[in-house]
Amino acid sequence: MTDSPKQNSESDAKTGASPWKATVLTLFPDAFPGVLGASIIGSALKDEKWCLESIDIRDFSFNKHRTVDTTPAGGGPGMVLKPDVSAAAIDSVARSTSENGENPRPLLYLTPRGKPLTQERVRELASGTGVIVFCGRFEGLDERVIEARDMEEVSIGDFVLAGGEVAAQVLIEACVRLLPGVLGDITSTHEESFEDGLLEYPLYAKPREWEGRNIPKVLLSGDHKAIAKWRRTQMEQITKERRPDLWIKSSIGEKE
Ligand code: ADE
Repeated sequence: MTDSPKQNSESDAKTGASPWKATVLTLFPDAFPGVLGASIIGSALKDEKWCLESIDIRDFSFNKHRTVDTTPAGGGPGMVLKPDVSAAAIDSVARSTSENGENPRPLLYLTPRGKPLTQERVRELASGTGVIVFCGRFEGLDERVIEARDMEEVSIGDFVLAGGEVAAQVLIEACVRLLPGVLGDITSTHEESFEDGLLEYPLYAKPREWEGRNIPKVLLSGDHKAIAKWRRTQMEQITKERRPDLWIKSSIGEKE
């Protein structure tokens, strides 16, 4: 097991509350914290604003060869994670981080077959007590385990990774940056892509002219109303062009 400096359900010394906790079930525990140990997310981990536990699925193998996979029933390529081993690993995790057993953490299974992850789901996950994330490898997990343990299948996009570890880091990072006190400037989460169903407006910084390209005049005008209007128009145009699906869903799109 590889862990953050603080793990399990120790209480926050000041508030009495347990920090948001991510438990990752993986065949590659050394892949954690990975990118989650860097930058603001890593500092928040050190500062115990959240905690990370990684559990090696192989520790739950029943034989001396530490086998975790077998051939698929009915034939076909690749290997499938054994249900008994997977379930034993899952069952070793305490789902609740609160003392009274309330708010059990959702058990997520990262797979390209899952429901696409959205900022809305990320916000919900970040507002709970944490997540338990099962990282698939090989061809996948036995369907009976998914059903029996009521796992929520989640995909981070329409492409196939070699396993769920990178996807788990994507999901956890998206959640942790929304936790209170993790981002210094709270407004930065309010004016970003997806916060109101639109993509973000373009950003510019000095110098005024760079390689013959100028910062749009309105941004240098000091007219805050005009700037806000320009940014809003940019958000709408960019969303319409790049993500018509989001545009249709957004409230303005619905009215049109
Ligand atoms: N595992 C492999 N590919 C994945 C994807 N696109 N999303 C989530 N987990 C995955």
